[in-house]
Amino acid sequence: MENIRVELGDRSYDILIGNSILENTGTKLKTFNFSPKIALVSNELVFSLYGEIVSESIRKAGFDLLTVIIPDGEQYKNIETLQYIYNELLKYKLDRKSALIALGGGVVGDITGFAASTYMRGISYIQIPTTLLAQVDSSVGGKTGIDHKLGKNMIGTFWQPKLVLIDTNTLSTLEKRQFLAGLAEVIKYGIIWDPELFQFIEENKEKIIGLDSNSLNYIIKRSCEIKAEIVSQDERESGVRAILNYGHTIGHAIETVTKYTRYLHGEAISIGMCLEAELAQLLNIIEPSEVIKIKDLINHCGLPCYLPGDIDKIEIISSMYFDKKAVAGKLKFILPERIGKVRIEKNIPEEILKKTLKL
Ligand SMILES: NC(=O)c1ccc[n+]([C@@H]2O[C@H](COP(=O)([O-])OP(=O)(O)OC[C@H]3O[C@@H](n4cnc5c(N)ncnc54)[C@H](O)[C@@H]3O)[C@@H](O)[C@H]2O)c1
Ligand SMILES: [Zn+2]
Repeated sequence: MENIRVELGDRSYDILIGNSILENTGTKLKTFNFSPKIALVSNELVFSLYGEIVSESIRKAGFDLLTVIIPDGEQYKNIETLQYIYNELLKYKLDRKSALIALGGGVVGDITGFAASTYMRGISYIQIPTTLLAQVDSSVGGKTGIDHKLGKNMIGTFWQPKLVLIDTNTLSTLEKRQFLAGLAEVIKYGIIWDPELFQFIEENKEKIIGLDSNSLNYIIKRSCEIKAEIVSQDERESGVRAILNYGHTIGHAIETVTKYTRYLHGEAISIGMCLEAELAQLLNIIEPSEVIKIKDLINHCGLPCYLPGDIDKIEIISSMYFDKKAVAGKLKFILPERIGKVRIEKNIPEEILKKTLKL
């Protein structure tokens, strides 16, 4: 089992990675000073797969367990579901020393974290992420939230979990498309921070996609270490944390313009990473050979690299200005200088952007 520490002073916590972690949830919970009432939040699908093993372990450790099952899907990461969660917690009389446990992908993790951050002015929570995206990204770093009708993730808090439990066995039931979308974020860590991770994926992509346990452990561990390091330096994204948004300026615009139905997040940011690498090339920030390596890896991992002709590029540009990362009408781009190093650019001329999108 791997143990990675997220260093944030009195908000520090461990990320445990291994392949038989679920059945030890209860034992891990006992190491904290939680009250006996614990609530497990999950969705129908994930609960049907892993609910029993986690619940049994928690009950065996002597906790009094409430399970809160929410519907599956991003469209339920909203205020109505949140209200439902609060109702259940209040009915069950969860107290200020109780903890919530999020068992599921990023949707369950984000809404459970948000509920924990606001219930009785904030209680503890633990993440048990079950998608690759949640294991390498959303469960670490303390961003929580829900969607608003006018925008995704528009309501939220920074609220760090007390522990993250990553059981890599859960990936065996995940749909391949979801797995690859998570892999896009791992490729991102390689590009922004770690050329060795990038090379490892290049050389081991078949093994990774075939869920070879050593390869999975390595990419998940490295991703968590990198995210932990960045978050420790800049918890609230006032500086370096922004580099995690490589591929996301264009990627989010693609998701918005296609109304979140055509691409999974990881797919949209794959196109974003390719286009933002091309943008860097147009600005002479990066060698063309590096851009080819980036695009080849994304492509070889079965992820999209180009903007299809039927997507309105003018809409993509205007959508970028509405993004919550745009400040005072200025777009922020994270641009690669080479694999393993990026810089933050705030003043990109619109002509170059149009040229990147072939407008
Ligand atoms: N907080 C953050 O820092 C952060 C970062 C990135 C993304 N996010 C958020 O994460 C969400 C996306 O997360 P996601 O990609 O995990 O999507 P998701 O939570 O919707 O999960 C994807 C699908 O996989 C299913 N699933 C989950 N685990 C499974 C398993 N082990 N086996 C079979 N099926 C399983 C889910 O039920 C769902 O149908 C978005 O809401 C996004 O905004 C948050
Ligand atoms: Zn992302």
